[in-house]
Amino acid sequence: MNPITLEDIQQNETIKTYIVRADETLIALGYTEHAFAHVTKTAYEAYSLLLKLGYDERTAELARIAGYLHDIGNMVNRVDHAQSGALIAFQLLTGLGMPPQEIATIVTAIGHHDEATAAPVNPVAAALILADKCDVRRSRVRNRDVSSFDIHDRVNYSVVRSEMLFDHEKRTLTLLLEIDTEICAVMDYFEIFLSRMVLCRQAAEHLDITFKLNINGQSLL
Ligand SMILES: [Fe+2]
Ligand SMILES: [Fe+2]
Repeated sequence: MNPITLEDIQQNETIKTYIVRADETLIALGYTEHAFAHVTKTAYEAYSLLLKLGYDERTAELARIAGYLHDIGNMVNRVDHAQSGALIAFQLLTGLGMPPQEIATIVTAIGHHDEATAAPVNPVAAALILADKCDVRRSRVRNRDVSSFDIHDRVNYSVVRSEMLFDHEKRTLTLLLEIDTEICAVMDYFEIFLSRMVLCRQAAEHLDITFKLNINGQSLL
């Protein structure tokens, strides 16, 4: 049997349904976008980071699959969605016939991606944390009424440009943000994202690289 790829996962109608329904739950709860745009970007960033770091193609592909499935647990509840998502992924991937060694890696990564209980326990988990936590951008804000923006809307909406840059020589991964400070002060960003940035630093350490944050040309981490 051929190894399961992200393409197989993306074409799976059951998985599509669960991702849509997980995001519908978050729409109802007033969260930012967690649908195909977020999970596809997370998948791509986790995959390309591991490849740049010299990990083998299959390990990177497991990170890509983990990235794509990581928020599926929101279908159950936002609370503990990492753990419920890991169990859903376990069942889906077992049903697709993926080898247990690979399922274990993906399930562990998904189960360790949410701030409250996150930990970079393996390279795939570390790459998933970095890719997920660095997805900050205006297009994730669904609320069109600026006057009712909460701080999450404000911070995401203020990000006019966001890029993850890896420097091979210095072995640094920099989250480069351009923020419209008319919408949100840099301090607002920190109020929400400090714990995420600390987690990114830990994840980077696990991969033997340094995490840096640059906002509007200022190096902040
Ligand atoms: Fe999540
Ligand atoms: Fe996420």
